[in-house]
Amino acid sequence: MKTQYYTASSLDGFIATEDDSLDWLFPLADLNDSSYPEFIAEVGALTMGAATYEWILRNSDKVAAETGSPWPYTQPVWVFTNRVLPTIEGAEIRFVKGDVRRVHNEMVVAAGTKNIWIVGGGDLAGQFYDAGLLDELIIQIGSVTLGSGKQLFPRRVLSPTLSLLSVRHMGAGMVELRYGVRS
Ligand SMILES: NC(=O)c1ccc[n+]([C@@H]2O[C@H](COP(=O)([O-])OP(=O)(O)OC[C@H]3O[C@@H](n4cnc5c(N)ncnc54)[C@H](OP(=O)(O)O)[C@@H]3O)[C@@H](O)[C@H]2O)c1
Repeated sequence: MKTQYYTASSLDGFIATEDDSLDWLFPLADLNDSSYPEFIAEVGALTMGAATYEWILRNSDKVAAETGSPWPYTQPVWVFTNRVLPTIEGAEIRFVKGDVRRVHNEMVVAAGTKNIWIVGGGDLAGQFYDAGLLDELIIQIGSVTLGSGKQLFPRRVLSPTLSLLSVRHMGAGMVELRYGVRS
């Protein structure tokens, strides 16, 4: 069982524009041509921050067009927020806040032998990294630059470095890099 930060990024390290747009991403990515089907099959629990959850709420039509459903997850999802956010009918969502370690314990129990997916954003993945709970980063890097935006992973990882585990070519639009976190 691994805790994995799986996301797409621009070449210059942003997962969304400043105003939370992902319009740059959709022309680049074909989910069925990526590792996503095999990745999601092994996920037993997910977590995301409030901005990511609110993006899904605002863009349910795009999510449905891409995945077939406005809420594409059958697994339980933990959403970190300090606010009261709307729920989605049929979705198994827990709203949580504070220390990621307590929430991670709950997710481990729910996931069983499967993996935990940190959907984003970058600082939330960083909070799991800070707590020593992040095992892998799996990043699809798009062939675009944004200049500014929401950061992929606002942490300094210098020593030990990340360990490059695999490189997957995804046509002219993307490449997937899988890194292990060394302790
Ligand atoms: N490119 C991709 O594949 C990809 C993947 C995922 C996300 N995204 C996009 O990237 C952007 C990410 O936005 P973001 O960087 O702002 O990150 P985010 O993690 O989605 O949202 C940040 C918010 O999460 C809440 N939060 C985080 N940690 C918390 C904690 N420990 N306790 C309580 N609340 C906590 C806070 O919400 P409150 O406001 O409630 O305080 C915080 O402002 C979104 O636009 C999303 O759609 C892109």
